[in-house]
Amino acid sequence: MKITKVIFLVFAVLGLMVGGAMAADVGKGKALFNDTTLGTSGKSCNSCHPNGKGLEASGAKSKFKIMGKTQNSLEEAVNFCIKMALKGKPIDPKGKDMANIVAYIKSLKGKKAVKKRRRRRKPIEGC
Ligand code: HEC
Repeated sequence: MKITKVIFLVFAVLGLMVGGAMAADVGKGKALFNDTTLGTSGKSCNSCHPNGKGLEASGAKSKFKIMGKTQNSLEEAVNFCIKMALKGKPIDPKGKDMANIVAYIKSLKGKKAVKKRRRRRKPIEGC
């Protein structure tokens, strides 16, 4: 009994440590999204996708068609845009920067819903 508890605790602590180190950072992802140094064209992701516009559903997709080419993951889609749109070097698909950009794109999901709710509230305020 006791030893299993100890083993469980060790794994729980290890899991938290690894999880903490791996946890993606939406804020850093947003910064990269606005970073013109990802490429050499002087543009950032934000130049073509202002505030992530048009990418709200991308976080839930697994296939993308960009400029006639199919990309089989969000990471591939991001790297495709870095290469083709920003004229930059693709980043490590398993790296921290990619995890952060992906986290930012996934965080866009709720954006539309929030906007809709705000719009609905206005007429009520006027009553
Ligand atoms: C020069 C303009 C341009 C730039 C800069 C650009 N993109 Fe794109 N991106 C496009 C176009 C065009 C498409 C395909 C049409 C669409 O789906 O909006 C696209 C598609 C995507 C998609 C797939 C959308 C979907 O759900 O099908 C993702 C994800 C994406 N871009 C991410 C990025 C990221 C991250 C960056 C920065 C590294 C970036 N883009 C920079 C033009 C650009």
